[in-house]
Amino acid sequence: MASTTDGAASATSPNAETTQAWDGPLFDRFERFRPIVTTGLGAHGEAALEIFPPAAGQRVLDIGCGFGDTTLRIAEMVGPGGEVAGVDVAPRFIETARREAGEASVTNVRFSVADVQTDALGGQYDLAFSRFGTMFFANPVAALRNIRSSLVAGGRLVMVVWRRRIDNDWLYRAQTIVEGIVSRPEEYEEPTCGPGPFSMAEADTTSDILQQAGYADVCLRRYDVPILIGRDIDEAIEVVFALGPAGEILRLAGDRAAHLHDEVRGALRTGLAEFEDAEGVRAPSSTWIVSATAP
Ligand SMILES: C[S@@+](CC[C@H](N)C(=O)[O-])C[C@H]1O[C@@H](n2cnc3c(N)ncnc32)[C@H](O)[C@@H]1O
Repeated sequence: MASTTDGAASATSPNAETTQAWDGPLFDRFERFRPIVTTGLGAHGEAALEIFPPAAGQRVLDIGCGFGDTTLRIAEMVGPGGEVAGVDVAPRFIETARREAGEASVTNVRFSVADVQTDALGGQYDLAFSRFGTMFFANPVAALRNIRSSLVAGGRLVMVVWRRRIDNDWLYRAQTIVEGIVSRPEEYEEPTCGPGPFSMAEADTTSDILQQAGYADVCLRRYDVPILIGRDIDEAIEVVFALGPAGEILRLAGDRAAHLHDEVRGALRTGLAEFEDAEGVRAPSSTWIVSATAP
């Protein structure tokens, strides 16, 4: 497997602002809520790996690998004869992933800082996998084409992306509640995360992007599962306050909306109450498990 090398995204990179967001405030928020985020996202990732299990001995690319928990999971599945390369544009995620893989003495993984839209990805890989790591590219066709050229002929892309907002009501409801109280500022200092978590929710748009990027056999499977969004209502409020579209509006508004935070938290408490049960706050969630092959 050719190696990828670390490179910091330059200020002129098309994903420079996204990189700043993921390596800065979004890393901090994902780290703070890591157990909740990775368990919730994990249910969708596990479903994708069950439908398309990496085989022993395969070489796999994990796109936008974050903390690297899917990279380690895939490393177990491909076994000592296989290899997994985790890539992420945010150096802080890669530092954590490398450290944890080292602590766990996993030897068949490698982590690199790379923008999958513009950097060489190594390969050739039998499988390119992504759990929620492909929705933030400035140019998704260019990024997915770059991923395709790192696959062997007949290699497969499997990516998990959010379906439409209305079927992920914990995020959508939080967004509409926040929008009713805080207006998204027209000007802001904070970096944004690129096209955003719902940019691949529309099936026709996503399948067109994949076809334009040169993939064949495009298939989208809907996967629905309730996920834990907080061990109690207070945690669920803080999760949506910090992450997703609601968190993004609040982050961009910054201190200008500080006087509205108590009102927002109160409205979120009412809005999320119906998802609370004896074990925590559990809400419906829905994704596409997208697969396609490199001809
Ligand atoms: C929602 S997080 C998902 C992280 C991880 N896959 C998981 O499921 O926990 C999205 C990840 O994509 C990464 N990312 C965004 N744009 C990227 C790009 N152009 N190239 C590589 N990684 C990117 C972010 O840094 C972030 O770690």
